[in-house]
Amino acid sequence: MTITSRASLLDLSERPRRLRRTPALRAFLREAHLAPSHLILPLFVHDGEGREFIRSMPGVSRLSVGELLREAEAASNLGVTSIALFPRVPDERKDKRGTEATNPNGLFQRAIRELKREFPHIAVVTDIALDPYSTDGHDGLLSDAGEILNDETVELLARIAVSQAQAGADVVAPSDMMDGRIGAIRAALDDAGFQHVAIMAYSTKYASGYYGPFRDALDSAPRGGDKKTYQMDPLGSYREALRESRLDVEQGADFLMVKPALAYLDVLRVVRDAFDLPVVAYNVSGEYAMVKAAALAGYVDERKVVLETLGGMRRAGADGILTYHALDAARWLKEEGL
Ligand code: PBG
Repeated sequence: MTITSRASLLDLSERPRRLRRTPALRAFLREAHLAPSHLILPLFVHDGEGREFIRSMPGVSRLSVGELLREAEAASNLGVTSIALFPRVPDERKDKRGTEATNPNGLFQRAIRELKREFPHIAVVTDIALDPYSTDGHDGLLSDAGEILNDETVELLARIAVSQAQAGADVVAPSDMMDGRIGAIRAALDDAGFQHVAIMAYSTKYASGYYGPFRDALDSAPRGGDKKTYQMDPLGSYREALRESRLDVEQGADFLMVKPALAYLDVLRVVRDAFDLPVVAYNVSGEYAMVKAAALAGYVDERKVVLETLGGMRRAGADGILTYHALDAARWLKEEGL
């Protein structure tokens, strides 16, 4: 082969790089569209004043109800119109049965009411589980022998759902992994006249090491034992994920979830392909903390890494993404004209 000035060194019929030559051409190849409306912003409320920083989650604070409203306004201005709420319950309000969870004038119910009153257009997603309210720090009730009481817990969860719906929740999100809770919650909501309130089932939730910073935020770590008898084994099978998802679909879930997200993108794809419900990914606290720590140390470019990560979750099949990066991501999407 003679080499002239116009000839190529390689005789290639395909050159994928042709489609990466300019931004306009690259845009054709983009399948993972990420918009602020796909993001759900998790926020922590507390009974104190102002903002309280969370050491293991740089950039995230516990918010007073007043600060919650300020944050909601910022979110709404950036096009993030879904907020997931979690309460930091004062220690003196915790007990073994998590009684505070159904207090109509409790911190959480007040926060939901205020948020809906000020921002009726925001979708408010509320967490259902006992751990923030329980002196045991477990998602379910414990027997004297320290075993989780599944069916008694489910009864309580259904009551919590109704209490949150009465406060104005648009979507209730059971994160507890008890068997049979979706059906019981659906029935209780319907009985109480809340047919319109949706259920976001934490359907595929692993007993993950990535929840550490969240437990710091709520001071909700189990006081004894672990959550392995209700949350799924991190090395479990696709069949288990499909079974949990199927049960929640059959019992009336409106959304499915895979949580955490990063180590389970394969599971997300499998669940997404098997069901026709929307699936959300929870980009959890430990995933957030790792990115923040590396960014603060100057090891990675936070903006690039966050948009790449959230885009990857969309490509893996997430309709929505719960992420503590939501406000930053929405701002960056706007700045980059994406
Ligand atoms: C508990 C709950 C947890 C998270 C959401 N709801 C922690 C746990 O199961 O121990 C974790 C969220 C995160 O890490 O960001 N009901």
